[in-house]
Amino acid sequence: MINPDQQSALVAAAQKTRQLAYAGYSNYPVGAALLTTSGEIYTGVNVENAVFPLTICAERTAVFKAVSEGEREFVALAVVTRDGGSPCGSCRQVLAEFGWDILVIIADERGVVHQALPVKDLLPHAFGAKNLASGG
Ligand code: THU
Repeated sequence: MINPDQQSALVAAAQKTRQLAYAGYSNYPVGAALLTTSGEIYTGVNVENAVFPLTICAERTAVFKAVSEGEREFVALAVVTRDGGSPCGSCRQVLAEFGWDILVIIADERGVVHQALPVKDLLPHAFGAKNLASGG
């Protein structure tokens, strides 16, 4: 669960970090902020590369930063773009790895929230650990 103040703070963190995006090829800077159950916020930006496919999205940067600091339980992720664009399929899959109930808050550069919905609604019928023999 996330209250309105926490949601505003998360969107503000994503707005702020978006200024750090390395997105000179697309000129589409993206900022993300991920709230853990422990109350920490991990931010991320898109980091592009002259070899275009090497680019990583803001959402995955935030998740990978958090996981590599020992965090695995997430409450919500805010993503800010100029127009309130929706997370790509790869980022949806990476978020799904850590929880179907993570709330994804999609906002534009002014901080206006366009959508707020759980991963399970962003990525229905997804492949997951349940499909593997190990069960994940
Ligand atoms: N991008 C993200 O960071 N997140 C998304 O969910 C969609 C796209 C980035 C990747 C690339 O740097 C730029 O936006 C244009 O695709």
